[in-house]
Amino acid sequence: MKKIIVTGGTGYIGSHTVVELIESGFEVVILDNLSNSNIDVLDGIKKITGIKPEFYKVDLADSSETDKISDVLKNADGIIHFAAYKAVGESVKYPLKYYKNNLNSLINILENMQKYSVKNLIFSSSCTVYGQPKELPVTEQSPILKADSPYGNTKQISEEIISDTIKTSEKLKAISLRYFNPIGAHESAEIGELPLGVPDNLIPYITQTAAGIREQLSIFGSDYNTPDGTAIRDYIHVSDLAKAHIAALKRLISNKNKTNSEVFNIGAGKGNTVLEVVKTFEEVTGVKLNYQIVDRRQGDIEKIWANADLAQKELIWETEKSLAEALLSAWNWEKKYRGIK
Ligand code: NAD
Ligand code: UFG
Repeated sequence: MKKIIVTGGTGYIGSHTVVELIESGFEVVILDNLSNSNIDVLDGIKKITGIKPEFYKVDLADSSETDKISDVLKNADGIIHFAAYKAVGESVKYPLKYYKNNLNSLINILENMQKYSVKNLIFSSSCTVYGQPKELPVTEQSPILKADSPYGNTKQISEEIISDTIKTSEKLKAISLRYFNPIGAHESAEIGELPLGVPDNLIPYITQTAAGIREQLSIFGSDYNTPDGTAIRDYIHVSDLAKAHIAALKRLISNKNKTNSEVFNIGAGKGNTVLEVVKTFEEVTGVKLNYQIVDRRQGDIEKIWANADLAQKELIWETEKSLAEALLSAWNWEKKYRGIK
């Protein structure tokens, strides 16, 4: 059985990917410092898969902590590196927090991969590397424009760190997946998106407002150059996104990669405005949302969506679930977690 280390594995995308890994026959070890996740996620994973993965609480940005888990790293067949801070707006306010955590953790992982001859890396990149693209949809060949936020910059720099490191190492191979906007929850509603504190992302803010935990959703900006003035993103069901990791990992393990540092867009290929998301949520759940339009959020771009043809061709992967299904699954998860009937 191939052993895969999942950093950030108790987090939102990590936990859904852990489920898919276990269901695809991989052994999983999770490394996470629980800075934005809860240990109870392991119980959710067990309820779905019957297996509670091995877990180590480690701050990956601190090299003295990673030294403690050398035995785990030694025998791994691959690493999926999710661990990072991810809030665009917060990164504008606290840039050093983001550069320190996101870059140090990646450097640490790469050093350990070299030290213990771990060959295969899947990296969580983001469509934020494109900045505000001039042409849409974006392909992997679209220019990497200046990032609009320190967070986006950490993803640009991370991709460069990975490709520079790979140039110096014959054995190391990596795939960076540029995620668009993952939303929704596992169909069992045993795991979902549960940020600690006030959510920064749109969907948990919507579901927490619908659940009565937040009073009102703020929609950031209505003066964008889009059909209804609100910003456009490419929303993808998190379980579809999780499956892309399995496809990418299998590609590396079976040496089907074309170069040692590959990049794929992972999106649904369709853009929706914030107001369309709100309306779809109201339609599929029957819950009316209390919202107000406020100023734009710093660091936000106007619109982006993916051309994901390359992933479809090379990873034999595409999205299966719709925006409506994703929003309903997010609501089902929120209701189950909060005990709402
Ligand atoms: P998340 O916050 O739910 O998960 C990240 C996990 O990493 C958390 O469990 C957190 O505790 C852990 N972590 C953070 N810093 C750590 C450190 N130094 N050591 C150990 N653990 C640490 O976020 P997510 O939405 O699951 O995102 C996962 C990855 O995907 C991140 O790299 C993020 O930047 C990237 N990404 C996310 C989105 C999105 O919209 N959610 C989009 C594009 C890319
Ligand atoms: N939004 C609101 N109100 C909120 C939260 C968000 O109107 O309370 C809007 C934002 O302004 C944006 C859209 O909803 O227009 C989506 O915002 P999110 O915060 O959910 O997502 P972002 O696109 O800003 O960023 C997310 C992740 C990043 C990732 C990026 C990839 O947080 O880590 O998707 O597109 F890189």
